Amino acid sequence: MNPLLERLGTYPLAAFQDLARTMAAEGVPLHDFSVGDPVEPTPPFVRQALIEGLGEVSQYPTAAGLPQLRAAIAAWVERRFGVRVDPDRHVLPTAGSKEAIFHLPLGILDPHGDRRAVLWGDPGYLVYERGQLFAGGTSDPVTLAHETGWRLELGDLASRRLDAACIAWVNYPHNPTGAVVDLDYHRRALDTARDRGLVLASDECYADIHPEEGPRPPSALQAAADDLEGLVVAFSLSKRSGMTGYRCGALVGDPDLIRAQRILRPNIGTASPEFVQHAAIAAWGEDTHAVQRRGVFNAKRAIVLDFFDGAGIAVSGSAATFYLWFAAPGGDDAAYAEALLRHRVIASPGRAFGPAGRGWLRLALVPSVEGCKEAVAIWRDAIASGTLPGHD
Ligand SMILES: Cc1ncc(COP(=O)(O)O)c(C=O)c1O
Repeated sequence: MNPLLERLGTYPLAAFQDLARTMAAEGVPLHDFSVGDPVEPTPPFVRQALIEGLGEVSQYPTAAGLPQLRAAIAAWVERRFGVRVDPDRHVLPTAGSKEAIFHLPLGILDPHGDRRAVLWGDPGYLVYERGQLFAGGTSDPVTLAHETGWRLELGDLASRRLDAACIAWVNYPHNPTGAVVDLDYHRRALDTARDRGLVLASDECYADIHPEEGPRPPSALQAAADDLEGLVVAFSLSKRSGMTGYRCGALVGDPDLIRAQRILRPNIGTASPEFVQHAAIAAWGEDTHAVQRRGVFNAKRAIVLDFFDGAGIAVSGSAATFYLWFAAPGGDDAAYAEALLRHRVIASPGRAFGPAGRGWLRLALVPSVEGCKEAVAIWRDAIASGTLPGHD
């Protein structure tokens, strides 16, 4: 067996997971804020497009995807970010953004070369590292911190780290912290990446999940404008359109990087089935459902933030995405998560996203608005009765 499977497969919080599973099996109703997989229904017009796309014969989808899908993605990029991209050269539909992130290094990394590392932010989405390792590369996590807004500043890294890397992943709005960056950040990151000859890969799967007021999160595509050299951006319909189960995303960027993926992907056979691509065309082509979904997440966000405020629980980041990132009362994220679990509320200990997540917890605003109200009431009572650690 590939030793990586043993090494990466063991989850650091097995005891915590076991306890959650035991409680669920005992029929204890749980308020589960752990996995970022929302329960709001997929918009009916998207489901309808899938049904209508289901022909009598179903053949292999191509790696390049349906031309209408590439056009729909390019049109969304232009509406959302004001950037024009060529659907045929700059756009690649993917089966969700996770597989695209995992497979990206296979089209970039030379496993026998000297630039084998991936730079990525800790805490962060672990797939950046995993894709690189399975492709024969190495991992160089960059510690992020509350004090610097959880920003990965490429330009602050030592030359030797930049010279050893072939890809730098940035992810704003950020999972797990919900931190955001401005357009200047993307300009700095792209300048540094180009200067140092590494690919800037920007995971923007939460681009459309943000509060309604204030500026919308910018894209690294805006920093690149009409020259996409050295840049690739990952997008997703999962969160924007409630389509986690459909598996639809996109890579947009440097035509050479897109071409490498198009050459690679027929070897793997990873592509959304064409009936799913028809649903994706409908979803990328419509924006009001995304506004409505944001409204629901923002309502949940307000309920929990109001409670945190009253309880004196300190929040960091949490400016966009449907995640709230808060400091563990008492300082120990694992102990606090376990104590919360005993009250039937599941939050993710920050260390699940890398060592720099210690001391913090992530809440994914996944339960319904009612579920959020119930969980907050339980939590408030637990603090009042002194059964949660770290609340004086
Ligand atoms: C930061 C980040 N990137 C990518 C993904 C993958 O999303 P999907 O494969 O559903 O597009 C997730 C999922 O939670 C995520 O949090």
